[in-house]
Amino acid sequence: MDAFRIEGGAKLTGEVRISGSKNAVLPILCATILAPGTYRLENVPVLSDVATLTTLLRTLGVRVVREGSALLVDSRESVPNEAPYELVRTMRASVYVLGPILARFGHARVSLPGGCAWGPRPIDFHLKAMEALGAVIRLDHGVIDAIGAPLRGAEIRFPFSSVGATGNAVMAAVLAEGTTTIFNVAREPEITSLCEFLCAMGARIEGVGTEKLVIEGARELHPADARVIPDRIETGTYLVAGALTGGDLLLRDTEPAHNEAVLAALREAGVEIDVNKTDIRVRSRGPLRPLEVETAPYPGFPTDMQAQLMALLLLAEGTSEIIETIFPDRFKHVPELCRLGGSIRVEGNRAIVRGVGALTGAHVMASDLRASAALILAGLVARGTTEVSRIYHIDRGYERIDEKLSGAGARIWRVRR
Ligand code: EPZ
Repeated sequence: MDAFRIEGGAKLTGEVRISGSKNAVLPILCATILAPGTYRLENVPVLSDVATLTTLLRTLGVRVVREGSALLVDSRESVPNEAPYELVRTMRASVYVLGPILARFGHARVSLPGGCAWGPRPIDFHLKAMEALGAVIRLDHGVIDAIGAPLRGAEIRFPFSSVGATGNAVMAAVLAEGTTTIFNVAREPEITSLCEFLCAMGARIEGVGTEKLVIEGARELHPADARVIPDRIETGTYLVAGALTGGDLLLRDTEPAHNEAVLAALREAGVEIDVNKTDIRVRSRGPLRPLEVETAPYPGFPTDMQAQLMALLLLAEGTSEIIETIFPDRFKHVPELCRLGGSIRVEGNRAIVRGVGALTGAHVMASDLRASAALILAGLVARGTTEVSRIYHIDRGYERIDEKLSGAGARIWRVRR
């Protein structure tokens, strides 16, 4: 298994280009099942999660070919084969095929995803949304078996915001007979971009970007092309890298408007941020101030940036508090950050981070995508050598992270272990 070796101490300078969003392209790829035809998706990052979904789509008869930074998709031969356990457990977002297969074919079989590193990740909201649209769902030896032809428009109320369940419900409702109203929908940019893609395919969705969507079901949709939005979590991760190393880094081809909460938090910590259309410049020279941050659904502070912010706050002058409201036990990165010299106490869904003067390099182990990012960030400033193992986690969601960091002056190497 590969590992990253990092020699800490380099200030990051120069430019980093932000890639297309992992969490935006995954549902868009699944939406191609809704209308047989050919699609061109631009700005698609090279990530193992995209490769996993591509494999899943191929088992469903969808052809996917990469042409540089674009994917050419052909769903004319798609069939409602079962989405197998070995793929769905590899990547939970595979469950996004449930809505499109059910809406297009009237019958879907999708393996239940496994839990994630930070605890079980239920999909009850997804299933209840399908049932609201008239599907009959049964669990058949670990496989979700959903029947519903045709789906009928309904009212769907989510108890609280869920990105995946919103995506699945919308992709099912766009071909349902009649009107569907969905309350308490996720407003993440990735859901907005999915809705915009579906509208380009001929879907009729009102209220995009708000917490209520009204969808008029269409008899059929048609293919469309799309350009994937920039990855806001990759953006936030490199902003922290620039701030933590006391550097001066320019992020290109990003979307500042998708990062308001992260930009506000960094500014409050004393980091200098300059925004210009699709670029963000991050500089940090002075001391870092401690923060009190609570994760929340968009446009709140994203849970996917919680670990990375914690890495930054390890060096703040004072004690910070991070409250994790989305995945209360998403703290697998804490013991590893403590091995690097961090002083962090976890009480339920709260992490108390006491700023320390310096971090020291050590061997640490990645446990999930964003935890891996936090360990790399801490390694960039830890004195001496840090080795991060199990970096297959990081390759799921960060395109060429070692090359992008090296290009900005970091001393980081991918090593075989
Ligand atoms: C998406 O996951 C993202 N993944 C996650 O990013 C992100 O952390 C999460 O949204 C929250 O923003 C993708 O977009 C592929 P949720 P998702 O449904 O859809 C509970 C990354 O690092 N819930 O919004 O699975 C759930 O347990 C990944 O890129 C139910 O109870 O998250 C959680 O507490 C990690 N029942 C809360 O809702 C359900 O049926 C929010 O989860 C569904 C969710």
